[in-house]
Amino acid sequence: MNGQAGGQFIPVARLSDLDARGRAVVRVGDTNIALVRVGEQVFALADTCPHRGGPLSQGDVAGHLLHCPLHAWPFDVRTGTCPERPGVRVRIYEVALRGDEILVDASGSFPAV
Ligand code: FES
Repeated sequence: MNGQAGGQFIPVARLSDLDARGRAVVRVGDTNIALVRVGEQVFALADTCPHRGGPLSQGDVAGHLLHCPLHAWPFDVRTGTCPERPGVRVRIYEVALRGDEILVDASGSFPAV
């Protein structure tokens, strides 16, 4: 479990819904949220890259860095920050696991930069 169930956690998917790369995109309200599994943890962040809208869920992961598939800007899935571009950030969502179920705190947050 990445987060503690204290916010507006809602079930969005099951671990079995993640694809072979440990990814899924879920729709919460009017936002597409990318689920990204790294090791035994699942992270959630807005699927839309703040640069030009690339689908972050389709990017490659190295460690905890998710690289946008369009221009390779890296985003830390733990914090939403872009280590190469100070001030650039993507909204992140706390994740909780309940058995096979993946829950996200739909309120989301922007990382402090
Ligand atoms: S659209 Fe993501 S780096 Fe350009």
